[in-house]
Formats: sequence, structure tokens, C-alpha cells
Amino acid sequence: MDIPTLVTAHTKLRPFGLADVDVLIQIANQKDIFRYYPNPVPWMREKTEKFIRSQLKHWEEHGFGWWGVEPLDHPGLIGWNGLQYLPDTDEIEVGYLISESFRGLGWTTEGTIASLEFGFEVLGLASIIAIVHPENIASQRVALKCGLALVDRTNYFGMDCFRYRVDAKNYMKVP
Ligand SMILES: CC(C)(COP(=O)(O)OP(=O)(O)OC[C@H]1O[C@@H](n2cnc3c(N)ncnc32)[C@H](O)[C@@H]1OP(=O)(O)O)[C@@H](O)C(=O)NCCC(=O)NCCS
Repeated sequence: MDIPTLVTAHTKLRPFGLADVDVLIQIANQKDIFRYYPNPVPWMREKTEKFIRSQLKHWEEHGFGWWGVEPLDHPGLIGWNGLQYLPDTDEIEVGYLISESFRGLGWTTEGTIASLEFGFEVLGLASIIAIVHPENIASQRVALKCGLALVDRTNYFGMDCFRYRVDAKNYMKVP
């Protein structure tokens, strides 16, 4: 499918491609980047290629997925942001990750707001959730800043986590 590109104040959310493999391996192997994920194992080439292919397949199947994130002022992949379907619970999750040297700039918040707007305004989704490890304070801040509210503490993918949610009818466009 023709995956759209979104532009925020400082970043571009654009389709993943196999040309991203090398830089994605570097990002995915940064210390502690998957500390709050259910399966924090190192990413080698095969797993990284599989990840990119599965993202592109997800877009084909659902019409949405994760984008690769690039700064507007110096191109090159620095992370991901976007929407993912969770078949076990029939929910749609917003996900995000950014390379350590680009954290604390508000760029994930920008990308997450763009992802939510895409979900509600383009796809017409009813609600979007975020799943966050209870100790992942930065991720919890992003969820709250983007208008998601804490719903409960539960289990996803065998991991204890907080579930945040925002419904289309309550979604206030964040300036
Ligand atoms: C979570 C993550 C994506 C946030 O990215 P980011 O670009 O730094 O996010 P933003 O700059 O938009 O916002 C981060 C917020 O968290 C706050 N924050 C970060 N670390 C914090 C800490 N230890 N304690 C309190 N607040 C913290 C920042 O101050 C900022 O909030 P503010 O704007 O109110 O000051 C990034 O830390 C990351 O990639 N982590 C590893 C992957 C990951 O855990 N992804 C989420 C899985 S649920």
C-alpha cells in the first residue's frame, strides 16, 4: 500500500524500508532501550529485517502501522511511532521509541499526537490505548501529555503494565 508520511514540528513519520536495517540494529542495541519491554533481547540482522517486513505487512493488512521517525533537520532514522492492532484484545495501541540522544525534546510527544490524529481523523477509530511498564516514567509522561488517561493495571504479553486509553469522543486535539 501507499503508506502516508506525516510531518510534525521537528520530525517526519515515514514508511520503514529494508534500507533502515543497519541503523535500526544500532538503535535497537542501545543499552536499556528495551528495558521496559516484555522480551528485551538483542536485535540481530535477521530479527531486524523480520521486524521491518512485519511492519509493512501490518500496514497492508490494517491500513495503519508504525512509521520510522526522522528529524526534519538532519535525515536518518531515530526511532518509531505509530499504531498497532492487538488481536488478543481487539485493541489498537500507540507505540513509540526514540534513540537516546534525541530524548527529552518533546519529539515523541509530537509523533504520538500525529499518530493519534491519524487514528481518529483519518481512520475513524473509536479508541486508542498505550501499554506502559509501571516503572517507565518517560513513557507514562508521553501518554498523559498526549491526552491518554490511566485505565487500569493489567497484563499484556506476560508483562505487568499500566493501560492508558483515549476515546475519539473525548479526544481533544493537543495544540
Ligand atoms: C519513552 C520515550 C519514547 C520518550 O521519548 P522522548 O522523546 O524523550 O519523549 P518526550 O520528550 O516527548 O517526553 C518525555 C517526557 O518524560 C519526562 N521524563 C523523562 N524521563 C523522566 C523521568 N525519569 N522522570 C520523570 N519524567 C521523565 C520528560 O521530562 C518529558 O516530560 P515533560 O515534557 O513533562 O518534561 C523514550 O524514553 C524511549 O524511547 N524509551 C525507550 C523505549 C520505550 O520505553 N518506549 C516506550 C514503551 S511503552
